[in-house]
Amino acid sequence: MCGIFAYINHLVPRKRREVLEFIINGLKRMEYRGYDSAGLAVDSGVNQITIVKLPGKVKVLESAVMANEKLYDDFVYDVHVGIGHTRWATHGAPSAVNSHPHRSDVGNEFVVVHNGIITNYKYLKQYLTEHGFQFESETDTETIPKLIKHVYDRHPELSFRELVEQAIPQIEGAFALAIKSSHFPGECVATRRGSPLLVGIKSATHLTTDYIPVIYSADIKQSPPAQKKRNGLVNNSGTSLVNGDGDGRDSLTEFKPLNDRAEVEYFFASDASAIIEHTNRVLYLEDDDVAYVTCEGGLSIHRMKRTLDKNEELSREITTLRLELEQIMKGNFEYFMQKEIFEQPESVFNTMRGRVLFDEQKVVLGGVKDYVSEIKRCRRMLMIACGTSYHSAVATRQLLEELTEIPVIIELASDFLDRATPIFRDDVCFFISQSGETADTLNALRYCKKRGALILGITNTVGSSISRESICGVHINAGPEIGVASTKAYTSQFISLVMFGLVMSEDRTSLRERRLEIIEGLRRLPEQIQEVLNQDSRVLELAQEMYQQKSLLVMGRGYNFSTCLEGALKIKELTYMHSEGILAGELKHGPLALVDKGLPIVMVVTRDKVFTKCMNAVHEVKAREGRPIIIGHAGDKETQEYAYRYLPVPATVDCLQGILTVIPLQLLSFHIAVLRGCNVDCPRNLAKSVTVE
Ligand code: F6R
Repeated sequence: MCGIFAYINHLVPRKRREVLEFIINGLKRMEYRGYDSAGLAVDSGVNQITIVKLPGKVKVLESAVMANEKLYDDFVYDVHVGIGHTRWATHGAPSAVNSHPHRSDVGNEFVVVHNGIITNYKYLKQYLTEHGFQFESETDTETIPKLIKHVYDRHPELSFRELVEQAIPQIEGAFALAIKSSHFPGECVATRRGSPLLVGIKSATHLTTDYIPVIYSADIKQSPPAQKKRNGLVNNSGTSLVNGDGDGRDSLTEFKPLNDRAEVEYFFASDASAIIEHTNRVLYLEDDDVAYVTCEGGLSIHRMKRTLDKNEELSREITTLRLELEQIMKGNFEYFMQKEIFEQPESVFNTMRGRVLFDEQKVVLGGVKDYVSEIKRCRRMLMIACGTSYHSAVATRQLLEELTEIPVIIELASDFLDRATPIFRDDVCFFISQSGETADTLNALRYCKKRGALILGITNTVGSSISRESICGVHINAGPEIGVASTKAYTSQFISLVMFGLVMSEDRTSLRERRLEIIEGLRRLPEQIQEVLNQDSRVLELAQEMYQQKSLLVMGRGYNFSTCLEGALKIKELTYMHSEGILAGELKHGPLALVDKGLPIVMVVTRDKVFTKCMNAVHEVKAREGRPIIIGHAGDKETQEYAYRYLPVPATVDCLQGILTVIPLQLLSFHIAVLRGCNVDCPRNLAKSVTVE
């Protein structure tokens, strides 16, 4: 949902073409967040900023930048600020003028890249228009640089950071912003509320601190405007191109990585994949933090005022990312999604690593162990999520109710919020999210937290808002998921919730055998997933047969119902075919009317407690000349006999079967998408990490 990126070097000489390449590569890594247009802004002379922005993918921007000989040159800067953006349109169609960066005026005095939605933009636009501003685009974002310029025109004595601090309280909605100004060359300000933003720090020598204290602007003694520093853009001869006196008021608390001549490079990015090739040292900004890089190479974190919350963190920790570059590369695969499907034997193993102790027949979850007794006393558990993550809740609800004997309610986050669902202090609320940033899920988390519920996060993204705002939880450890369609995160969320159920039932002797069969099932899963993946060519043949169809139903019940929902979602988002996941028990209540010999129907029929009922559905379909494509157990001749086409999967414990039955549908949607010429990793109109409601 839009990716923002900013780069600032201080005393590390960089050619402008290098700086442009950093920005473009950063945007490419975040392209899965939005890919309908891209743009950047860089210094192009003394107090001059050039903006390049175009509809289309980052590649289009790259070609335009490389073709611009005046810009893509070998001019070396010791201090340089560049910002970039890859867009998923919310307000205004994808076009050059609606692309980011947006600017305050034709002189590019303030330029902004934004991820999020400004909900009061109509009001701001009207106000700014009345004050003489002319808008170029249809976007909500354009109000931001104009608002900052409006403040600047009235208060030219304020520092860059102070201007932004004055402007952001006027903005409602969600945002992560990186801002650059021709008035403050060599400086960059970034801030966030509701949308993710991190700061990467690359220093030639070891950082002297692991914490940056937060500076509360209300506590800063105002210094006379005459002390303002404006000595930014420095060329490679070390000569300052703009001179000034300096705003030295924060110098005691700002981050000084080395010494007075600090050699340091900073990155602001929506996510870690954009910066991992440069540095693994990052800090995550909190809502309403303002990060300020000065032209002296200092970084400081500001907030307007301290809250009354005694637990408020008074500093931001610089942490080390545990992410390797290869994890975000395609390797030998043509598509990220394909790589992620085939990674599943390994990703599910990583989810269980160090947690499922097979020899001791025990499960340990470090992130929840201190809360288990409190959870056991709860009145009910709610699992709240969106899309695929919601399907992992559907997949595991029955098992959690069986193992805990606590009622489990599953909720789509948007609907949960629309209904203002009653929440009690003794509720345990799970928030399941691959990205950890989904706006609806995050808002639901904050809603439940305010009402005193225990908050448990299940996320794949260390440092994400949901993981930071949860009280306890499980990192699913699936590794970065770049393909917009979620695959390996789903199977790892599924396993994380199963592991949670096993932890909760550890002392239940009556469940001993059930627990042991599940643990044994988990042990065999990676190898069984591999067996399913080995059927890829068979799935491809099926895809070749059906890729021109208009519609596909996916039907099943019991533990396999989540597979139907998830399989249908994969088909529709990747192939743009209509697809529906149907509970087989509902067949006679309507969907049967759709069945004829032309409509493809995938039916999931495995040997569990609902097998006979599923077979009844197969008979009903066949009686209407339907041609069921059955996903069933390998070697199950009886089921196979009724199938028009058969996709075999190994048998496992009923509650884990959904992990194996979903994989043929992941593969099928992938192959159909390729055959239909669809963009597998970036399906149209979608973006990963939906940070707007
Ligand atoms: C579908 C898909 C989406 C996400 C949903 C929630 O393939 O990826 O349905 O599952 O947008 O995202 P997270 O899990 O990041 O909260």
